[in-house]
Amino acid sequence: MRTNYCGAINTEYLDQTVTLFGWVHRRRDHGGVIFIDLRDREGLVQIVCDPDNVASFQVAEKIRNEFVLKITGKVRRRPEGTVNTALVSGEIEILVATIDVLNSSLTPPFLMDDDSISEAVRLEHRYLDLRRPVMQSNLRLRHKVAMAVRIFLDQHGFLDIETPMLTKSTPEGARDYLVPSRVNAGHFFALPQSPQLFKQLLMVSGFDRYYQITRCFRDEDLRADRQPEFTQVDIETSFLSADEIMTLMEEMIRGLFKSVINVDLPNPFPRLTYADAMFKYGSDKPDLRVSLEFTELTDLMKEVTFKVFREAAEKPDGRVAALCIPRGAALSRKEIDDYTQFVGIYGAKGLAYIKVNDLGSGVEGLQSPILKFLPEDTINAILARTNAQNGDLIFFGADKAKIVNESLGALRIKIGHQHGHAESGWKPLWVIDFPMFERDEEENRWQALHHPFTSPAEGHDELLESDPGRALSKAYDMVLNGSEIGGGSVRIHRQDIQSKVFRALNISDDEAQQKFGFLLEALQYGAPPHGGIAFGLDRILTMMTGSESIRDVIAFPKTQRAQCLLTHAPSTVDEKQLKELNIRLRQIETKPV
Ligand code: AMO
Ligand code: AMP
Repeated sequence: MRTNYCGAINTEYLDQTVTLFGWVHRRRDHGGVIFIDLRDREGLVQIVCDPDNVASFQVAEKIRNEFVLKITGKVRRRPEGTVNTALVSGEIEILVATIDVLNSSLTPPFLMDDDSISEAVRLEHRYLDLRRPVMQSNLRLRHKVAMAVRIFLDQHGFLDIETPMLTKSTPEGARDYLVPSRVNAGHFFALPQSPQLFKQLLMVSGFDRYYQITRCFRDEDLRADRQPEFTQVDIETSFLSADEIMTLMEEMIRGLFKSVINVDLPNPFPRLTYADAMFKYGSDKPDLRVSLEFTELTDLMKEVTFKVFREAAEKPDGRVAALCIPRGAALSRKEIDDYTQFVGIYGAKGLAYIKVNDLGSGVEGLQSPILKFLPEDTINAILARTNAQNGDLIFFGADKAKIVNESLGALRIKIGHQHGHAESGWKPLWVIDFPMFERDEEENRWQALHHPFTSPAEGHDELLESDPGRALSKAYDMVLNGSEIGGGSVRIHRQDIQSKVFRALNISDDEAQQKFGFLLEALQYGAPPHGGIAFGLDRILTMMTGSESIRDVIAFPKTQRAQCLLTHAPSTVDEKQLKELNIRLRQIETKPV
């Protein structure tokens, strides 16, 4: 029987005989004495094999890294000068009585304390990568977060109810992962993009409060903070207002950060409307650690001769905005060129600027490629609005609002963090009052900004038909340090409003019936007012652990190409299997690389 975990033994156990199981982290031969660092999930302990104990010494001579051992021995104090304060077990060592080799190991492709391994190698040998202390600690933290969430939700009367994985498409804005049905030839299940409709139906069923820590599947372009399958803490409740839901949910998140990583988040979280967020930060998930803010200039630029600014200002969907960088005049030509290239990624066609060298000398004290295009009044108005000081630099964006927001918004974050305009720590907020719809220019139609089951704001029902672009919703997002960690809304609980929203989205009554008939029907059997939220568990953990990638907090993640390097999924399948499923492939398959 094991008496202790390796990494948990300390001076409390001095002179006791212990039995340990673990992996050989390192073996050192010190002229006659062999030292083994034995590792288990709790950490390392130093094992000493004395040549006087001939039997065990002979075993110790043969063992290699990552062998699995059972060891019994006596706990003793390490000699002075060899204490390792970094380890819980750093003051003691185990003098071996017996060693059993429970299994040998091939030479591993990397050492478990090597932090410079390529991610591809780590993912191919994920089971070894997960032995590394940082990964052990990340997954433990994940467990702690899940536990804290469950305890909170249980205490507040939420019931954990499972919803199907094989289901019908739930639109959350991504492509579905489809699963062919063998028994229903030509028919497909969709893996859920979220449990959205089921949790609403559970409210109709009267469960009152539901939660689930569950997997969601979205076939979308992957980024650093996205996975094709990821985990949501999914929550729904009846009879609470948006305000009440937000209050309860931020209490959960505050408690989580306190109990798991001892961080005090503000109480309450600040709330910012979508319109203000776009206006000030060009983003609906602003990083509030960065102090820089946009200055609106659209109205000032309608009559200037500089075509780039005037045309953007005149367009109904155009915007001219400035970002004033304190002490930015020190930026070099090269740095400005690099930033110009950077905003180009977001579609900006240039990055005009004014360096403010000396406000006292009027236009002479400024340096800029665009001064000649701007009347002095306008220049003075820009300086006044941005509140620029000597030594500052003002960047300009002029284009469609979407491009200005995205490009200057990204620039704000980049420069903010690079040039000391960002605080450290945690800055959560709620973004509220989202529009119901956003324009899909390519398809020339309205799309739901959240999902089509989101309730219009109080008094905005009428706008669904008359002016959908102006209709606001009862949606809210929780944002932390520039990352959207959760999103939800009060839902539509009346069939007539739901039908109106489908119509605004250009979904015909027939199509609505075919896709969401069950929901429309359920709403007519006494559906209670309800709402909820879903948090991205992987994202919360990425932030809590300070990981660079979402993959570092998931045991077996997919790559950016949506592949599993460990199992080599996805893979081709037998012709026989395809035949059973009534599927014939359209083209010669290109093997995933
Ligand atoms: P939403 O689509 O905003 O809302 O998702 C909720 C949260 O899930 C996280 N998330 C992701 N995390 C990792 N990889 C992804 N591909 C990914 N996509 C989303 C984000 C996001 O805030 N049914 C609604 C919720 C509701 O209205 O209750 C929904 O799914 O952190
Ligand atoms: P140009 O007249 O194209 O040489 O541009 C003059 C200045 O305006 C340069 O500094 C460009 O980087 C900048 N500029 C051009 N297009 C834009 C734009 N859409 N938004 C902001 N600055 C721009």
